[in-house]
Amino acid sequence: MPPDPLVIFIPSGKRGTVPTGTTVLEAARMLGVDLDSVCGGRGICSRCQFQTTYGDFPKYGISVASSALSSWNIVEKHYKSKRGLKEGRRLGCQAKIQCDIVIDVPPESQVHRQIIRKNASTRTIRMNPATKLFYVEVEEPDMHSPSGDFERIKRAFLNQWKITSISVDPSLLPKLQAVLRKGNWKVTGAIWQDHNATTGRLIELWPGLQDQPLFGLAIDLGSTTIAAHLTNLSSGEVVASSGLMNPQIRFGEDLMSRVSYAMMNANGHQEMTHTVRDALRSLIQQLADESNVDSSCVVEAVIVCNPVMHHLLLGVDPTQLGQAPFALATSESLTLRASDLGLDSMNSRGQIYILPCIAGHVGADAAAVALSERPDLSEDLVLIVDIGTNAEILLGNKHQVLACSSPTGPAFEGAQISSGQRAASGAIEKIEISTETKEPRFRVIGSDLWSDEEGFMESLGSTGITGICGSGIIEAIAEMRIAGLIDRSGLIGSATQSNTDRCVPDGRTHSYVIYDVHTETETGVRIAVTQADVRAIQLAKSALYAGARLLMDEFDVDTVDRIILAGAFGAHISAKHALVLGMIPDAAIANVFSAGNAAGTGSQIALCDISMRSEVEQLVRNIHKIETAIEPRFQEHFIAANAIPHQTDVFPKLAQIVTLPDISFNAHKAQSKGSGRRRRKRLQ
Ligand code: FES
Repeated sequence: MPPDPLVIFIPSGKRGTVPTGTTVLEAARMLGVDLDSVCGGRGICSRCQFQTTYGDFPKYGISVASSALSSWNIVEKHYKSKRGLKEGRRLGCQAKIQCDIVIDVPPESQVHRQIIRKNASTRTIRMNPATKLFYVEVEEPDMHSPSGDFERIKRAFLNQWKITSISVDPSLLPKLQAVLRKGNWKVTGAIWQDHNATTGRLIELWPGLQDQPLFGLAIDLGSTTIAAHLTNLSSGEVVASSGLMNPQIRFGEDLMSRVSYAMMNANGHQEMTHTVRDALRSLIQQLADESNVDSSCVVEAVIVCNPVMHHLLLGVDPTQLGQAPFALATSESLTLRASDLGLDSMNSRGQIYILPCIAGHVGADAAAVALSERPDLSEDLVLIVDIGTNAEILLGNKHQVLACSSPTGPAFEGAQISSGQRAASGAIEKIEISTETKEPRFRVIGSDLWSDEEGFMESLGSTGITGICGSGIIEAIAEMRIAGLIDRSGLIGSATQSNTDRCVPDGRTHSYVIYDVHTETETGVRIAVTQADVRAIQLAKSALYAGARLLMDEFDVDTVDRIILAGAFGAHISAKHALVLGMIPDAAIANVFSAGNAAGTGSQIALCDISMRSEVEQLVRNIHKIETAIEPRFQEHFIAANAIPHQTDVFPKLAQIVTLPDISFNAHKAQSKGSGRRRRKRLQ
């Protein structure tokens, strides 16, 4: 008897011998190789495709003969003639192994394929969704052994897929019998698996083989914007992304004004709940329409949001979040049905998973950031700041992770700034000020040219220059500090003190004019940084720094190893300018990273890989929360952080790349300069 053939699967490298005549799909299962199948080996789903190459494989020490596989059988030929197969591909459930062979499993045939997300931080996500498709052939009812249709479906799942305990969603029952008969007792079921239990639930049933893949949504429900990504749950591909402004803005720009609206109006929170659910419903509809996906195939959504949005989405009055001790109705993760939230633009039996909240001020969005950035796995001490109207701050390493939230207010988003606007066409987003001439040059969203380059004005089209966005105002104030137009206390100098006519009187203070155009016929646009603007940014950055500092106190450190700026805004902040301003503790620029929309990445991870749901729940249970509102040192840190970059903390790493002029435009303050108490020994 010839020896059993050796099979080597690539890319996994798994190998072993199998009896001659074993199908490639059976061999994969015997050796624990990921080879997909929806139809259970019936030759109709084509998920089990593989390819092989014949000849010598010195690396593996084998030679693959042209007779290594059985010839094409009738099922394979039929599939190829009807549906087509790529050149060189075979069906794993039909091709039988005759002698030694190397089997190449392409990415689309791998069950747990790895998806590399190419965003600001490249990330690998393992595909392991909660809802999967299974094709079964069900026994017909029989007068002699009476049993219900669902009981026979259950038996089919057990016998054909070894799926033991499944229940049926009650709202599926009314159509179950019709689907079975329409499919001639052959059906495809979508089974959702609870990550905390071994049971599954049948949430959808299609007659025959359902060859459309399933889809899921990763939703980042922010107080200003809502973003959603429609993702193929088989391939991990994001097929459509879209966003819209959160229509709750009409009840209040920031979270606290929405809490106030709920407090002051009898049906306030219900109104806001309806509004946000409506917005989600239409966003999901738009994504499904755009990508031509049937809404019944959209079977999952993972939602991340801050605590107030969390409560308003669920229909919970957020009043308790507006006052100490900021109690959440629940901080645990939630699994709901789409119909519970009225999301009828997706499968109404589809499952919605909402990540756990960390605390009353630190929501599921911060949990998603933690899942994306995994400070709990880090060897070095990493500070993660997610900047929005509130800054969520995480500090930790593999030994401990701390979290807090700091009330930065909307100034970083361009609100409360005299020329401020959202980051949209026409907004100044980058600026440089010459330390010699004090003249600015800048870039505007919508153009790749700097303002002193030829063709700049023409490149703006009809939009022109309309304002300055959050990252623009941070750069402007930091550049003003570098150029000596602002002193350490944040005071803007007069024309004489600062040596430029661009510093103009503005009431009892001064403003620095970045751009000013007047024509003979009309008053044009004037974009300036006023003293009030500087004060607003100082308040915001002090809150951010004080929060970070508070967490550093708990670790008893004065420096961190890495800083990650998260959030859409964090992606646009220049590390150098954030350091000059003193938004973040001193660090080498090379150790300040942008993670892009880390909360969005976290929701994608939880959508694509069900095992990550248990991980994030465990991670959140281990995060220690610090409440800034009741922490007396927060106020102390806040006041010290008001100076630019800081009253007492030193920035030696920043000093290696930027020299900040030691100036004071206020004689009294100049005398008291340096009187600030040094808080502790520094570790540089
Ligand atoms: Fe479905 Fe092979 S497993 S075609």
